[in-house]
Amino acid sequence: MKLNRILLTGIMALPIYVQAEVLPNIPPIPADNVQSAAKIELGKILFFDPRLSSTGTVSCNSCHNVMAGGEDNRPNSMGVHGKTGGRSAPTVWNSGFLSVQFWDGRAASLEDQARGPVTNSIEMGMKNWDVVVERLKTIPGYNALFQAAFANGVETITEDNAVKAIAAYERTLVTNNSAYDQYMQGDKTALTIEQIEGLNTFNELGCQTCHLGANFSGPQLPIGQGWFRKFPTYNSEYDSQYNLLEDTGRYQVTNQETDKNVWRVPTLRNIVITAPYFHHGAVPTLDEAVRVMAKSQLNKDLTATQVQTIIAFLNSLTGEFPEQTMPRLPGMMGESVIK
Ligand code: HEC
Ligand code: HEC
Repeated sequence: MKLNRILLTGIMALPIYVQAEVLPNIPPIPADNVQSAAKIELGKILFFDPRLSSTGTVSCNSCHNVMAGGEDNRPNSMGVHGKTGGRSAPTVWNSGFLSVQFWDGRAASLEDQARGPVTNSIEMGMKNWDVVVERLKTIPGYNALFQAAFANGVETITEDNAVKAIAAYERTLVTNNSAYDQYMQGDKTALTIEQIEGLNTFNELGCQTCHLGANFSGPQLPIGQGWFRKFPTYNSEYDSQYNLLEDTGRYQVTNQETDKNVWRVPTLRNIVITAPYFHHGAVPTLDEAVRVMAKSQLNKDLTATQVQTIIAFLNSLTGEFPEQTMPRLPGMMGESVIK
């Protein structure tokens, strides 16, 4: 774990299995969607606007609460008309560092991802994006906001521009300067002895063979290329206890036999505040999640002390959350868009 600062700044040049990386301030920005203050502001407004849902009750923030851990702390999220699906909402914090989106990696980019929930019948329930765009056009203030963000003339209120703005906002959701990052930048007092022990246990057990890189979700791969692993790799009593095999994960995306129960390796940053755990949110506590991981992925039974020190280490991955202020949403003129 002895890496000097020069190495740390040259992240791209590091060999793949090096664990120690500090979270950069900004995730990779795609060439066709550069950041701008106006775009980020529009994206934030869209992220918070429940009028993007059929009932006017559900915004992105309903399931990805950026005032907290960027998710909803529920096993399964609740969308329009109280409908729930089978998957748990992952955090949007640091999602810009993920090279594929969703538990099964079925969306390549944050832009692609943002197209989904709005028209998903159990999430935001809009019929299609044409209806969404019509609705946005009916809300007077949106025109000026889209114009400011995309000064490209003709039709600025479009699906493409809406998802670009949302993705631009999400790329600002970065939690730097966790105790772990401070430690890796040379402040050897930033971690407690127990946390250092936990970090060593994490590495010695082999957790870092999957949870590596700055985001603990694998190496920084090109957008669209995922870091996938089978879960569970080893069968155990946990399979039936927590129903680990029912959702076949990536198999549903590719139809390849080898992708059965294969999942993208998720981030461990801010993991202590994003319970419950796993793709279906079936494991309520972090200590149990750590035991399940050790058994299912490494075929190891941990001692109580090992679990405790790993949890202490995982606590050091909670970063600083840039303050989010609630945006004012553009209003209507004496009528409502929710019919
Ligand atoms: C009803 C709850 C709900 C709403 C509303 C919702 N999401 Fe999600 N979101 C989820 C769930 C559940 C998943 C995981 C689904 C899966 O992986 O199959 C997810 C996944 C994501 C991911 C992928 C993160 C990762 O780690 O892979 C991002 C990013 C995201 N949502 C952003 C948004 C945005 C932007 C909106 C608004 C346009 C939105 N979500 C609306 C529940 C919701
Ligand atoms: C072989 C690869 C692999 C190894 C080794 C591994 N993990 Fe994981 N980890 C995964 C995958 C894949 C998931 C996503 C599982 C799912 O929910 O479908 C995951 C999920 C998790 C989660 C839950 C994340 C969330 O948001 O709910 C935690 C916590 C976790 N791992 C910790 C650990 C710890 C601690 C170790 C070492 C004891 C470890 N992992 C070893 C691949 C691995």
